[in-house]
Amino acid sequence: MSYDLVVIGTGPGGYVCAIRAAQLGMKVAVVEKDQTFGGTCLNVGCIPSKALLHASHLFEEAGHGFEGMGIKVGKPKLDLATMQKFKDEGVDGNVKGVAFLFKKNKIDAFIGAGRVVAAGKVEVTGADGKAQMVETKSIVIATGSAVAQLKGITIDEQRVVSSTGALTLDKVPGKLLVVGAGVIGLELGSVWRRLGAQVTVVEFLDRVLPGMDNEVGRQSQRLFEKQGITFKLKAKVTGIDSSGKTLKVSVEPADGGAAESMEADVVLVAIGRVPYTKGLGLEGAGVALDNRGRIVTDAHFATNVPGIYAIGDVITGPMLAHKAEDEGVAVAELLAGQAGHVNYDVIPNVIYTFPEIASVGKSEEELKAAGVAYNAGKFPFTANGRAKVNRTTDGFVKILADAKTDRVLGVHIVGADAGTMIAEAAIAMEMAASAEDMARTCHAHPTLSEAVKEAAFAVAKRAIHM
Ligand code: FAD
Ligand code: NAI
Repeated sequence: MSYDLVVIGTGPGGYVCAIRAAQLGMKVAVVEKDQTFGGTCLNVGCIPSKALLHASHLFEEAGHGFEGMGIKVGKPKLDLATMQKFKDEGVDGNVKGVAFLFKKNKIDAFIGAGRVVAAGKVEVTGADGKAQMVETKSIVIATGSAVAQLKGITIDEQRVVSSTGALTLDKVPGKLLVVGAGVIGLELGSVWRRLGAQVTVVEFLDRVLPGMDNEVGRQSQRLFEKQGITFKLKAKVTGIDSSGKTLKVSVEPADGGAAESMEADVVLVAIGRVPYTKGLGLEGAGVALDNRGRIVTDAHFATNVPGIYAIGDVITGPMLAHKAEDEGVAVAELLAGQAGHVNYDVIPNVIYTFPEIASVGKSEEELKAAGVAYNAGKFPFTANGRAKVNRTTDGFVKILADAKTDRVLGVHIVGADAGTMIAEAAIAMEMAASAEDMARTCHAHPTLSEAVKEAAFAVAKRAIHM
């Protein structure tokens, strides 16, 4: 068996790369160690979490929002088993979609663990232990990431869970303690709070969502607190006693001091993810890793070994599905002699809570640190007509534009549908638009996206509805 390209891993990076390469005329195979295609994102990440976020949001709306609109349905009852089935069916539809696309594009799939023997040679070991060698001109490693472990704490995926276990709980925990106020902590914390859990989030730093614009973090924290989530900032979990019926969690101030004991039925560890290269044989093949275990690549996704490339969560950059996908397309195009490229300055980041939180480009803190003079235009959803009638007035749009040229450098949105609205900001930034370009673009009325237009006008201090 000999191919132009073998892709190891079928997450959003790997499967998209394989499809693009096949479109460009290459003979392509993928290698996947799991039983289904789609990687973390489709099986235990983006897709199942969004299914539970959607269903739990509607559950909450039925309980609290419907009556005020004149819809009387009584107190909604939770059938968690059916909600989990709804999620599983969504996952199933998506992973089958990838299998269909592989067939359609004549991509061969090898089910088994891939090991890079050397440039041009991948050994695949199936569940039965039988190994076969696959030969190829190029190899793309797209093996993704795995949950970061908390020192001294064992994840059993029953009571002490990672995101994977938190997506499959068969009972709503009375008390859920989340370690880490990052994306997973807030998304899955929101799911279980809506379904009835008392949620406390313990965060090492003095703020939620580190890395995002400070104002976005502060406002988001207030909104989550209003919804009933409790935050314990500047604190760390140092141990869990699971000998009793209830977990006893030791929590210490981040910079040292006396520990306190907190009770929980379930602890969710969500302190980040680490690149996954286990069993790939990279040492033997001579592929270099950095000090955080990521595969080192150049601007063209090439590792230090000719013919071996890497993309997605296993290399540097934000661990996001769309970043992995874009890298998959770019490396396939580069292998075909085209000019594949990813613009890392314009990668949107969305947190699918309610309201959603979305950003693209630079935060105010990043611009200040870089000494870039900017103007900020901000518009609250309380002043947007559609948000008012929908009663989704929490949040704002903030646009940061270069003080001299008016070029848009960053857009930050907290609000219903922020994840959809951020796409127009990304396109504007990709086209090097000015805030005035965004403001003078006709936006349909009444839409939430008019708040984007108004924030763009606010950069020049001339928003109409404020
Ligand atoms: P992965 O999706 O991790 O895929 C890697 C694949 O490689 C896996 O299928 C694995 O089995 C396979 N593999 C590994 N080693 C081998 C081997 N030796 N041989 C064969 N196969 C191998 N991102 C977003 O953009 N939006 C979201 O809403 C979002 N939600 C998330 C929610 C959760 C709970 C989690 C955990 C993550 C979420 N992410 C989200 C992040 C997103 O899932 C990742 O960024 C994305 O999956 C990375 O894609 P990838 O192709 O690099 O790797
Ligand atoms: P994260 O990096 O978003 O957040 C981790 C949080 O844990 C940070 O706030 C960090 O300060 C904190 N922390 C670290 N060590 C700690 C400790 N010992 N005690 C207390 N707090 C500690 O990581 P998370 O939430 O695990 O998600 C992993 C990645 O998955 C994300 O970075 C993102 O790339 C991806 N993801 C993306 C989603 C999306 O796009 N909507 C959804 C879910 C995950």
